Amino acid sequence: MDSNTMQGINPIISVNSLWKVFGKNPQTVLEEPYRNQTRADIQQELGSVVALRDVSFEVYPGETFVVMGLSGSGKSTLVRCLIGLIDTTSGEINVDGEDITNFDARNLREFRRTKMAMVFQNFGLLPHKNVLDNAAYGLEVKGINKEDRHSKAREMLDKVGLAGWENANQTELSGGMQQRVGLARALAVDPDILLMDEPFSGLDPLIRRQMREELSLLQTEIQKTIIFITHDLDEAITIGDRIAIMRDGEIIQIGTPKEIITEPANEFVREFTQGIPKTKVLDIEHVCTDPDVVFTPNDSHAVVRAKMDHAKTDYAIGVDPEAQYIGILSRDQLNTVLDSTVAIDSLIDPSILSVLPDTTLDEALSFLNDQNLPIPVVDDKNAFIGVATQPDLLKVVASDL
Ligand SMILES: Nc1ncnc2c1ncn2[C@@H]1O[C@H](COP(=O)(O)OP(=O)(O)OP(=O)(O)O)[C@@H](O)[C@H]1O
Ligand SMILES: [Mg+2]
Repeated sequence: MDSNTMQGINPIISVNSLWKVFGKNPQTVLEEPYRNQTRADIQQELGSVVALRDVSFEVYPGETFVVMGLSGSGKSTLVRCLIGLIDTTSGEINVDGEDITNFDARNLREFRRTKMAMVFQNFGLLPHKNVLDNAAYGLEVKGINKEDRHSKAREMLDKVGLAGWENANQTELSGGMQQRVGLARALAVDPDILLMDEPFSGLDPLIRRQMREELSLLQTEIQKTIIFITHDLDEAITIGDRIAIMRDGEIIQIGTPKEIITEPANEFVREFTQGIPKTKVLDIEHVCTDPDVVFTPNDSHAVVRAKMDHAKTDYAIGVDPEAQYIGILSRDQLNTVLDSTVAIDSLIDPSILSVLPDTTLDEALSFLNDQNLPIPVVDDKNAFIGVATQPDLLKVVASDL
């Protein structure tokens, strides 16, 4: 989801100027001169910890919003505030237009039963219950009868790949499987919003990657709004529609993975994101340029050759009068055919495939060819957009090394 598609859509979550201060007299921190002092100075002078400082952001329905930051930057505090587990010091948390910071205990309980569910890092399974009852637990709390909650829990266990494990105990499950039960339990209550605080960080790297991919797949099906906390960059860009980067309780930048990498708000973000391979995030559109020579099927060999000479280039892009892409013609190919009555569009190189503009550079690398020809980019209706030349592509790859 990019910023354009959000226009006209109401956010499901809107956080305005949220502060959370731990320690004595938290309100004092909101006053001058402390308000603008660094976290370290405030801690030294007042003994209070500014866990969240003037945090504002919006999350849209169906979006996966990732919050990323170093240890202690305030990520867990933020999700705990969002689900009403801890009091806020100041600011608003609007969910579906209602400010949950005003909710009483009863409202909050209802809110957590219906709107928002949390998947914890340590799975949070109940040891004396089997997999099925653990997955059904959220529904049991809601007062749903056994038959209905078991049926829903079975459906969710199936979704997360645990069909057949209903009667197993927690001790018989691997970490990844326990996390799946946690996910099934959160999904069973069918909340609009899922909060996930480093849900995969206790898992082996391989299982972790697998869970991440499964979540992405599952998300295309369930279309929940997900707030996902991580400090793993790879995880953030794989699953995040947008990423918020936190430092010392503040949000420093919010953007798509691409925006964060290509337009880092400051040196901190630049350094933070340095480990992300650009080729994984950037689309081929990023290196798309206009070709020097374009021909139509009616052009003669001589005209196209003259255009190539003039532009000092060795290829031309064929486009029909409706701007539909026809193919790419190399100078070599043009030179091998001496009979100028041969239709020029029959000389195009069929081995060069075109790609869509949202092809990542990583994917585009497999389209590179031995003839040194660029990769043509067309839209989903085959209208010509531009070309990505090999040097332009390889420059980005080299900058990753
Ligand atoms: N209950 C608390 N009492 C006092 N200080 C707290 C409390 N909870 C969190 N903090 C402080 O608030 C700051 C933010 O903590 P938080 O747990 O939100 O960080 P985090 O980004 O989730 O870190 P991690 O990546 O290690 O989980 C830290 O300095 C922490 O010490
Ligand atoms: Mg945390």
